[in-house]
Amino acid sequence: MTPPTLLLAIETSCDETAAAVVADGRTIHSNVVASQIELHRRYGGVFPEVASRQHVLAITTVIEDAIRQAGVSWDELAAVAVTEGPGLAGSLLVGVNAAKGLAFSRGLPLVGVNHLEGHIYSNWLATEVEASERKQPDAAGFPVLVLIVSGGHTELVLMEGHGQFRRLGGTLDDAAGEAFDKAARLLGLPYPGGPVVQRAAEGGDPTRFDLPRAVMNNPDHRYNFSFSGLKTAVLRLVREQQALVADETWPEGYARQSMQRGDDAAGKTQLLRDIAASFQAAVADALVAKTGQAAADFDVHHVCICGGVAANSELRRQLAARLAVPYSIPPIWLCTDNAAMIGAAGYYRFTAGLYSGWDLDVKARWPLVSWQ
Ligand code: KG4
Ligand code: ZN
Repeated sequence: MTPPTLLLAIETSCDETAAAVVADGRTIHSNVVASQIELHRRYGGVFPEVASRQHVLAITTVIEDAIRQAGVSWDELAAVAVTEGPGLAGSLLVGVNAAKGLAFSRGLPLVGVNHLEGHIYSNWLATEVEASERKQPDAAGFPVLVLIVSGGHTELVLMEGHGQFRRLGGTLDDAAGEAFDKAARLLGLPYPGGPVVQRAAEGGDPTRFDLPRAVMNNPDHRYNFSFSGLKTAVLRLVREQQALVADETWPEGYARQSMQRGDDAAGKTQLLRDIAASFQAAVADALVAKTGQAAADFDVHHVCICGGVAANSELRRQLAARLAVPYSIPPIWLCTDNAAMIGAAGYYRFTAGLYSGWDLDVKARWPLVSWQ
């Protein structure tokens, strides 16, 4: 039996410092994520300067932990994979420089990876327990349709083979995760918005407000999305209904204290829950409808869902109820940013001989491009 190809992977594109060891682009031996969310919460979003400095503080420990938890020695590693872009330049630089230093000193190939490609390949990952029994998304062959829904991106991609990506469409304005983050802010909820809006929506009535689903039946935008109108609709609702209220019963007591408090605090809490649920249902509806259309149009065998918003419970519920094609969606801890996904994507670039030079630079913007 040939020994597995082990990659050390590093990811620092945004506000998570992450390192992982992955075998054969599939089996996770370790996956360490140091989150900076608490630090950024006070700014209501990621503060780039703070993010890169925090990466500098955390990176060495995170990499050491990933190696130790995997129980591997440096000699067993085949390559070092690292997120090259897209993302915050100052954050990416920390990971890229760490990866360069390690690869150079250990005589290992360096493999720069596209972050979006990483999200896609999160669907190829499995734990050591699952690895032998779980089928890969391409088990029935390509093409595979991919929906990427993260904080910065919302894209429908037709994957025609490893490293072969055809962009079908994407958002015309805000990304789905960005829409969640903005809606949360409007509702007086903290960053990052996705998980808190989801929690707020629990016990809410998703049919109370019929919020807009833009470009839904527009043939010019069959595979595109638009979420900015939805955000404006939430803003209008919040204003009209004077919905914000500080209430102890509100999840984690987050609602802004300064907003108007009426006599009917319980009713207002319900109102907020209903707005959150209606918003979430509208986002999920658009994502599932367009993904279903594309899956049928291109006659795909399988659909992969990925990115931070793939953690959303309403999206998961609607996918299960409405998507007619077999699909995969990673566990929640692999939906948000992590390095294991970079190790999976990096493996396919590595086996294709696609190494980076020592002059590897970060790419703050970098669309998904085919390399095969
Ligand atoms: O993929 P990711 O970790 O980072 C980027 O590459 O952007 O995605 C982060 C985004 C944030 O906008 C966050 O609000 C959203 O994913 N998110 C969620 C949930 N968990 C994270 N959105 C909806 N529901 C969730 N449960
Ligand atoms: Zn991401």
